[in-house]
Amino acid sequence: MKKCTDMLVKSVHEIALETVEMTLADAFITKEAAPGQFLHLLVDGHSLRRPISITDIDRNNETVTILFKKTGEGTRRLASLQPGSTVNAIGPAGNGFSYDSSIRTALLIGGGIGIPPLYCLGRELLQNGINVKAVLGFQTKQHVFYEEKFKMLGGTYVVTDDGSYGHKGFVTDGLDFAGHFDHYYSCGPIPMLRAVTNELTYRPGSISLEERLGCGIGACFACVIQTDNAGGYRKICSDGPVFAAGEVVL
Ligand code: FES
Repeated sequence: MKKCTDMLVKSVHEIALETVEMTLADAFITKEAAPGQFLHLLVDGHSLRRPISITDIDRNNETVTILFKKTGEGTRRLASLQPGSTVNAIGPAGNGFSYDSSIRTALLIGGGIGIPPLYCLGRELLQNGINVKAVLGFQTKQHVFYEEKFKMLGGTYVVTDDGSYGHKGFVTDGLDFAGHFDHYYSCGPIPMLRAVTNELTYRPGSISLEERLGCGIGACFACVIQTDNAGGYRKICSDGPVFAAGEVVL
């Protein structure tokens, strides 16, 4: 279930290059939210809402955390909100990650701004007795965030495109580090997801295509993705953003 409500801005911090962490309070959304879902935020001066995935859920303090890149006018305006102000949100939206008791060890594979929903998932998996490992990819050292938080969850391998931090390369270069796992969860740019799913063919996995969200409410068709060659398709915003690996054509 989701609702439309004004959420109270509790804090706003720039935690890496152009990367903003914002904590928002609302009792209903915090209670209902699950890893992999997103908030659909209305930014002043923009008629289209911005879908932004949930990074963390704090049910004790009734807050959720989001992370986003300040790359456009809308997200810059969002980042300029001060604690004590409000932002209108519809949420929690979309279908999140799922898991079951057959999974003893999960591998999280994230790239850039696709990493935040995996943190939320990792915390929940760990709370449910599932071991967590992570491979995280960033553009440069200046873009790295949440490394320590992921290390608190389990073994974490960091790569950067230019080698300025961690290992030089792509997340697929870190897959050997992962060793055994029962299920992988991945979120990031489409080329990264394509490389990951190709590398891990025949391994059970889930991918989140949140980077491809447009209007977020099923109205713009910007998020339509093919499932087969017979014309089948899904809408990422309402059928996803999480899909089984291999369910959609990347
Ligand atoms: Fe517009 Fe899905 S994002 S229809």
